[in-house]
Amino acid sequence: MNKLFVSLLLTFGVTGMAQAASAAIVGDASAGQAKTAVCGACHGPDGNSAAPNFPKLAGQGERYLLKQLTDIKDGKRQVLEMTGQLTNLSEQDLADIAAYYAKQKNSVGAADPKLVERGQALFRGGDLSKGLPACTGCHSPDGVGNAPAGFPHLGGQHADYIEKQLIGFREGDRTNDGDSMTMRSISAKLSNKDIKALASYIQGLH
Ligand code: HEC
Ligand code: HEC
Repeated sequence: MNKLFVSLLLTFGVTGMAQAASAAIVGDASAGQAKTAVCGACHGPDGNSAAPNFPKLAGQGERYLLKQLTDIKDGKRQVLEMTGQLTNLSEQDLADIAAYYAKQKNSVGAADPKLVERGQALFRGGDLSKGLPACTGCHSPDGVGNAPAGFPHLGGQHADYIEKQLIGFREGDRTNDGDSMTMRSISAKLSNKDIKALASYIQGLH
């Protein structure tokens, strides 16, 4: 009797805790819009930035956005241009902002026709001889990524920005890809020419 009671208590106790954790913070896209006024100067009013070194945020996955915002705020990912921008924003603010950008529609650029063949082959097929996996496995064939898993949307992103990230992962300037070091180990297998071709292909991908 006593044992059963204890185990029931434990079961309900644990379920209650799990519910509390998953109900933690839910982003509100309409509240988020007002909080992005200052971001628009670089990232564009709807998250489609004009300048090629400022990433597009429109249509990016909510989970990935929130992780980057938290990492940038905590200094785990260094973005000099954003120094101080996130200091006064709460976890709820960051979640609202992530929800807002995730709901916007991203614009797509164009690939350099001279680079498409190499970029597409690497993106879709990887390179068996180097043990390089296809990007599609995580970022999907049309480049939309996998929002629930936190794999970022790449399709349509500025080539200059993509190139800088891949070089950053390879050279150890960007290290916030987790303990599995997925993107650091992948980019270690890419030459500068591979990176240029992939970045151009991604810019036109939709
Ligand atoms: C002065 C320009 C500037 C302002 C203002 C700015 N950012 Fe950024 N942001 C950047 C740059 C540049 C990068 C990319 C840095 C790099 O190359 O790694 C970036 C990166 C990001 C990323 C990561 C994107 C990705 O695909 O990984 C997010 C998310 C982001 N910014 C959100 C914001 C938000 C939200 C605000 C407003 C609170 C903001 N930024 C204000 C310049 C800016
Ligand atoms: C096993 C899954 C996986 C594979 C395969 C993979 N990626 Fe990624 N990629 C990720 C994850 C996860 C992140 C986000 C890391 C983080 O949280 O900062 C990422 C991030 C990126 C980013 C940064 C995006 C941004 O907005 O800053 C680029 C660029 C990228 N990957 C390109 C590639 C390319 C090109 C390939 C193929 C050569 C590739 N990835 C293969 C999982 C993967």
